[in-house]
Amino acid sequence: MDLNHPQNNFNLQSQDFGKDFVFGVSTAAYQIEGAHNIHDKGASIWDHFTSKKGNIFNNHHGQIACDFYNKFEADILLMKSMNIKHFRFSLSWSRIIPNGTGDVSTTGIDYYNRVIDFCLECGITPWVTLYHWDLPQVLQNKGGWTNRAIVSWFENYVNVCATHFGDRVKNWMVLNEPMVFTGAGYFLGVHAPGNRGLKNFLPAIHHAVLCQASGGSILRALVDNAFIGTTFSCSQITPYRNTPRDVLAAKKADALLNRLFIEPSLGLGYPTEYVPVLNRIERYIQPEDVKNMIFDYDFIGVQNYTREMVTHSYFVPYLQAKIVKASKRHVKTTLMDWEVYPPSIYHMIKQFNAYKGVKKIIITENGAAFPDMVSSGQIHDTERLNYLQSHLRQVYKAKNDGLNVEGYFVWTFTDNFEWAEGYHPRFGLVYTDFKTQERIVKSSGKWYQGFLKN
Ligand code: BGC
Repeated sequence: MDLNHPQNNFNLQSQDFGKDFVFGVSTAAYQIEGAHNIHDKGASIWDHFTSKKGNIFNNHHGQIACDFYNKFEADILLMKSMNIKHFRFSLSWSRIIPNGTGDVSTTGIDYYNRVIDFCLECGITPWVTLYHWDLPQVLQNKGGWTNRAIVSWFENYVNVCATHFGDRVKNWMVLNEPMVFTGAGYFLGVHAPGNRGLKNFLPAIHHAVLCQASGGSILRALVDNAFIGTTFSCSQITPYRNTPRDVLAAKKADALLNRLFIEPSLGLGYPTEYVPVLNRIERYIQPEDVKNMIFDYDFIGVQNYTREMVTHSYFVPYLQAKIVKASKRHVKTTLMDWEVYPPSIYHMIKQFNAYKGVKKIIITENGAAFPDMVSSGQIHDTERLNYLQSHLRQVYKAKNDGLNVEGYFVWTFTDNFEWAEGYHPRFGLVYTDFKTQERIVKSSGKWYQGFLKN
């Protein structure tokens, strides 16, 4: 491929998607901001989790990350120069309310006001996620997502954000990928807060479902002309073998990974038919919850990176299904060992579009980590470029097939802190030198810039 003309076999332009289709980039507070203890900021569960040896690849942490807290103006200007007009970022709860509840930090509010105002000055529309995994540690000390009181803690936090920022921020997402923060954080223990087991997982699921709905209702009440969504991780699930047992295993995995959080919000309840252990959530459900789990979102944020192949396994408790790793399947993978499989994004748009209550879909994350090499000050990230283009083709196909997809955000703008994997996997359109904080626009970023022109 000719690297000077990277889009030579990709002839779509942004305007081919229609004038209302939004293109942007996505980020999250803990992954980029740094400034972990500046002013009165409280610690989050990620500050705490990363401080324990052995939790994160090479004991990396987000204390500085991309130093976006201090560099946001330069980064937003760079975004602008790349023709990026929509920027998704999250608010750090413990920067805004250091003790989780109670006093609001004026410096925290001031910081986000400056970020929002600078975006608007640059002609960039802010898309704000309220919760991208960094719960205040003080609330975790009281049980975090397993404590039903989180519903009122969260409602108070949403109130504060809506009141301070709702005059200028119109596009909101309540939660980022509840399946990942409850599954990895409260069942497998590989993400903060590092808790395990059903006794943590099941209440965390239910409380996240309640918060995702009540957060939406508060935004609806307090923000004029709000466009309200929430985001879900999802992957096309394929049976590993075409046997009845693997087909059933795939249905179970689909219920757990793709249906668990959207269906209660649509009034369909938990998908217990394929995952009977979810019946045990009942003990956390209070009578009024059934209606309080429902919210009429303006859009659903679909976040897709790969597909999963699933096989039957007697040894996996509760599910009897397990994922067959991509590395064992001899397929093209990213650095995360995720299969590169573009039709998955089409499949997931179609699957979400099929729900009667889903009005609009925005791809709020899609992207890939590959080993980037800096050579003579440049990064020719051909694999990422191909990944993004091939996924965009699928999104275009979905739109042309009449599926209601109206936006696409690349994960992510600059290389950043990739949770348990630390700084090792780089997902950015822009390279971050974590020693000097220098930014270098990769070939993929240059391509996106050209694609977004006009
Ligand atoms: C998360 C991001 C993460 C990305 C790549 C998503 O699950 O929302 O925070 O960095 O995937 O792993």
